[in-house]
Amino acid sequence: MLLHIPDVLTSDEVAGMRKQMDGAEWTDGRETVGPQGARVKRNLQLPQASPVRTALGDLVVAALGRHPLYHAAVLPLRTLSPRFNRYEGGGEYGFHIDGAVMQVDGDAHVRSDVSCTLFLSDPDEYDGGELIVSDLYGEHEVKLAAGDAVVYPSSSLHRVTPVTRGARIASFFWVQSLVRDDSARRLLLEMDTAIRKLTADGADQGSILQLTGVYHNLLRRWAET
Ligand code: NI
Repeated sequence: MLLHIPDVLTSDEVAGMRKQMDGAEWTDGRETVGPQGARVKRNLQLPQASPVRTALGDLVVAALGRHPLYHAAVLPLRTLSPRFNRYEGGGEYGFHIDGAVMQVDGDAHVRSDVSCTLFLSDPDEYDGGELIVSDLYGEHEVKLAAGDAVVYPSSSLHRVTPVTRGARIASFFWVQSLVRDDSARRLLLEMDTAIRKLTADGADQGSILQLTGVYHNLLRRWAET
């Protein structure tokens, strides 16, 4: 499921983050990938140890924590601390699949179920830089307003097209979901959305209660913690 999550950050929040990033040191993005990724990756990243990266990553996680659609769609269990990248001067990232298991500090690991890109540049600031996600239904092109995010299954082949003007700045990270299976997560999101709409429309309380019970019992069946 590829899903657009609008308005994760306000324009003021984006501007504040961009200001901090302008003064930060950027390094070659190939430092954080294996040999397969290194062959096709041409961008810059805030270094893992950068205090700016840590502080801004915390802001991104907090903003997503306030977003009901993000929660309903992703059902996050563990979130890898967000990273930040910058594509400019023809920078691109060819087709690849993200690593399945990422090491956090020490011995902890996060299985990547959901990939998230949060756009921090507006589309009119750069040419190119589309995120292309390839799945059973074809190739999907994503280029969103600053402050908006996209989530998609980490199992998807994807790439970022060359940036031929300006700079494309984004945050990206991976989430281990309570529900590993993408199609199960999608069913839960559809049911959650329908229950919210029925509630807003003042539908029969007993039926809403019954459907809410089904939602939770499906989540109980599928959740891994
Ligand atoms: Ni990727």
